[in-house]
Amino acid sequence: MAGRVANLPAQVTALLLFLACVSGSTDSRSREIRGAPRIPSQFSEEECMAIKEALKGAIQIPTVSFSPEKSNTTALAEFGEYIRKAFPTVFNRSFIQHEVVGQYSHLFSVYGSDPSLQPYMLMAHMDVVPASEEEWEVPPFSGLERDGFIHGRGTLDNKNSLMAILQALE
Ligand SMILES: *[C@@H]1O[C@H](CO)[C@@H](O)[C@H](O)[C@H]1NC(C)=O
Ligand SMILES: *[C@@H]1O[C@H](CO)[C@@H](O)[C@H](O)[C@H]1NC(C)=O
Repeated sequence: MAGRVANLPAQVTALLLFLACVSGSTDSRSREIRGAPRIPSQFSEEECMAIKEALKGAIQIPTVSFSPEKSNTTALAEFGEYIRKAFPTVFNRSFIQHEVVGQYSHLFSVYGSDPSLQPYMLMAHMDVVPASEEEWEVPPFSGLERDGFIHGRGTLDNKNSLMAILQALE
């Protein structure tokens, strides 16, 4: 893809936060959501596969926050390496500045061509609440695809947003 940026706001900042999100999580098992494929058809089959695989890979890294003070920092560090591999273009453009904040969070500043426009910020968090295997129909960190859904902790909250933001940027 050409590296040209047209009419982007002056600065788009994507802050991928590692936030303690230890709170009650809703059980979505009872929900019956069925429908058409969610990925728009302008993507080739290979691109759709790559997008899905990228999300599955993100789910498989157990970035658990056990409490506000205790997190799996190994997993958080691994996640940092993962996004570098999954989104090589994001990390290889002079108009995208990447900073690590507070050791594990990632701040991307995307500089557009018109500095007079309003900047905006997109945010998502990469950590998840703990998940006990017994309460899950599939292993919670498997990223298993079944019946047209990708299963796992973080698929809805909030690695979906995180991966979508970076995927779009990529
Ligand atoms: C922490 O994450 C690593 C992977 O990055 C994993 O191997 C390990 O089992 C996790 N530890 C806990 C306590 O979940
Ligand atoms: C980006 O990739 C090109 C090769 O496609 C390489 O020459 C260049 O050094 C890379 N730049 C950065 C900032 O990694």
